Amino acid sequence: MTDPVYVTDALIAEDIDAYLAGHEKKSLLRFITCGSVDDGKSTLIGRLLYDSKMIFEDQLAALEADSKRVGTQGQEIDFALLVDGLAAEREQGITIDVAYRFFTTEKRKFIVADTPGHEQYTRNMVTGASTADLAVILIDARKGVLTQTRRHSFLAHLIGIKHIILAVNKMDLVDYDKAVFDRITLAYRAFASEIGITNFTAIPISGFKGDNITALSDNTPWFKGPALIEHLENVEVGSAADEAKPFRLPVQWVNRPNLDFRGFSGQLASGRVRPGDAVRILPSGKTTTVDRIVTLDGDLDQAVAGQSVTLTLADEVDCSRGDVIAAADAPPEAADQFEATLVWMADEAMIAGRAYWLKLATQSVSATVQAPKYEINVNTLDHLAAKTLELNGIGVVELSTDKPITFEAYADNRTLGGFILIDKLTNATVAAGMLHFSLRRAQNVHWQATDIDRDMRANLKNQRPALLWFTGLSGSGKSTIANLVEKKLHRMNRHSFLLDGDNVRHGLNRDLGFTEADRIENIRRVGEVAKLMSDAGLIVITAFISPFRAEREMVRGMLPEGEFLEIFIDTPLAEAEKRDVKGLYKKARAGQLKNFTGIDSPYEAPENPEIRIDTTAMTPEEAADLIIDRLLG
Ligand code: ADX
Repeated sequence: MTDPVYVTDALIAEDIDAYLAGHEKKSLLRFITCGSVDDGKSTLIGRLLYDSKMIFEDQLAALEADSKRVGTQGQEIDFALLVDGLAAEREQGITIDVAYRFFTTEKRKFIVADTPGHEQYTRNMVTGASTADLAVILIDARKGVLTQTRRHSFLAHLIGIKHIILAVNKMDLVDYDKAVFDRITLAYRAFASEIGITNFTAIPISGFKGDNITALSDNTPWFKGPALIEHLENVEVGSAADEAKPFRLPVQWVNRPNLDFRGFSGQLASGRVRPGDAVRILPSGKTTTVDRIVTLDGDLDQAVAGQSVTLTLADEVDCSRGDVIAAADAPPEAADQFEATLVWMADEAMIAGRAYWLKLATQSVSATVQAPKYEINVNTLDHLAAKTLELNGIGVVELSTDKPITFEAYADNRTLGGFILIDKLTNATVAAGMLHFSLRRAQNVHWQATDIDRDMRANLKNQRPALLWFTGLSGSGKSTIANLVEKKLHRMNRHSFLLDGDNVRHGLNRDLGFTEADRIENIRRVGEVAKLMSDAGLIVITAFISPFRAEREMVRGMLPEGEFLEIFIDTPLAEAEKRDVKGLYKKARAGQLKNFTGIDSPYEAPENPEIRIDTTAMTPEEAADLIIDRLLG
C-alpha cells in the first residue's frame, strides 16, 4: 500500500521514451484529502486511482480492505515522492503518517497526500498540506459539516491552499437528494467565509458508486458539474498568480565549475526573469543585471516561478547560499523580529526563550520564540491564553532571529514566508511556521557604532578578554573554585569580574525562579551581561548551574571564537548531595523544594567542555591553577 502502483500501460512496453516524454509535458497537481475513513476517504482515493486506471479491480479491493485494517493510522511517507517541504522530517528519522500516492490521467499528473483526519494528527495534515495546491474536504452527506470539517478547512486555509473542493460524499446513501447537498453547501459557505475562505467548489459524489468522479452522474441530474477528476484536471494551479508577482530567487548554491563561470542556482519563488533584467542581491542590497539563464538543456530567454535555473550576473557581486536575488525595483524586506503562526510538531513542548534553528527558503538562522500571544483552539477557533505550545498546538507568537532574514508575508509568498524550526541538539523538526509581518521595533532600532572598540579597551588593560563559564550541579564547587580563580587573577593584575548565581538572583534576576523557562531567561541575561563585560575588556567568570546545553551553546555563540571556555565542575550527584553545603538537597528530598537540579529538574552535562574538573580527584586550589594555566598558558 505504501508504494504507488504505476500503470502497466502497453505504451511502456512499446516505447518507454514516448511514454515518459508524454508524462513530462503534463502539469502536476499536488493535493491533499482531508477527512476520516468514516467519511469514505480511502474509498475515494481508491476510486480516483481506479478510475484513472492506475490500479485494477483486485487492487482496489485490496486497498479498501487494507485501509480498514490500518484504520485512521495512515501509512508511512513514500519518500521518493516527497521532494521538498518538510522532507527533512524523514531524514531525521521521524515517521509522520502521511501517505503520498501518484496517479495520472491523460491531462495531468497528480500527487495526493493522504493524512489521517483526527486532531492528534494535525501535524501530519500540516505536513501533507505544506506542498499542496488544492484540498479536498470530504463530508459524509448523512452527517454534514462537523467539527473536523471546520478544523481541516482552517488548517488548509492556514497553510495557504487556495483551491478547496467540498466533496459531499455518500450521496447514494441519501438518495442523491439535492436538498441535502444544498443544505450542506450553504452551512459550509457560512463557516468558510468566517475564516476567510472566499471560494470553494462543492461536488456531490459517491466514492463507492463512482458518481461524479470521472463523469457527471445520471443519479444527480440537478448537478451541472464539474465532476471531481475533471475539476482536478482543469483547476489552474499556483504558477499564473505566482508569475505575476515580483521576481525572487533564493540562492540554493553557487555553481563554480571553473574560474570563468560563476552561476547562482535555485528555484524561482515568484515572478519571471529575463537576461538584462536589473536585480538586487539581498541582504547586501547590491545591484547588477542578469547575464544568462543557464539550464541543462541550454540557455533560456525567460524563466518563471517554479522553474529551477542557474543565473549568471553581469558584475562580480558577492552572492552566496541563503541570499535572495530579486527584482531591483521591488525587493523583499529584511528583518529580525516577526509575528508568526506556529504549528508545534514535536512531542516536547515549545520552550519560550530557547534558541532553535529557523530555516526559511535557503536561509538558516538562529531564532528564539517568545511565549505565545495566544493559542488557537482548532475546533472552535477561539483564542486562548497559553504559556507554551504542545504537540499539535497552533498559536501566534513573536520571534526574533540572530541576523536579519529576507522574507515576505506567508500570505503573499509561501516560499519566503514559510519556515520550520529545528531543535539544535536533536536536529528534529519541531514546528512549521508562517510569517505575518516584521515588528516595527526591529526596523527602528539600529546598531550604533562606537569609536572605542573592545580591542582598545582590552589593550589598555593589557589582557585578552575571556569568559570562563562554570557549569555543574548545585553544591558541585563552582563558586568556590571560581572565587579562587578570580583571587589568583587579581594577584596577577588581571581585570576580572565574577558573576555568581546566588548573587545575581538577588538583583538583576530577582524576578526569576527555577522553572525551565526562568532558568533559560536567567542564563540569557547573564550571557548578555557577560558579553558586555567582555566587550569592556574584562576576564569574566560566571558560576551558574546553567543546566541546559542549548543555552550554554547560545552564550558561546555570542562571543568571538575561542573566548568562551566551558568549565564543567564534574561532581557526581551523590557527592554533591553528601556535601549538601546549603542543606538544599535535604529539603528537595523531603519535597519542600520543587524543581531542584538533579532531583526533579534535569542537568545536561557538557559533551565537550574546554576544561573538566573532577572535584573528587583534586583540591579547589589545584583546580584553580589548572584553569589559570589553560587560560593564560
Ligand atoms: S540556574 O539553573 O538558573 O543556572 P543558578 O546557578 O542561577 O541556577 O542558581 C542556583 C542556586 O540557587 C543554587 O546554588 C542554590 O543555592 C539555589 N537554588 C534554590 N532553589 C534551587 C533549585 N530549585 N534548583 C537549583 N538551585 C536552587
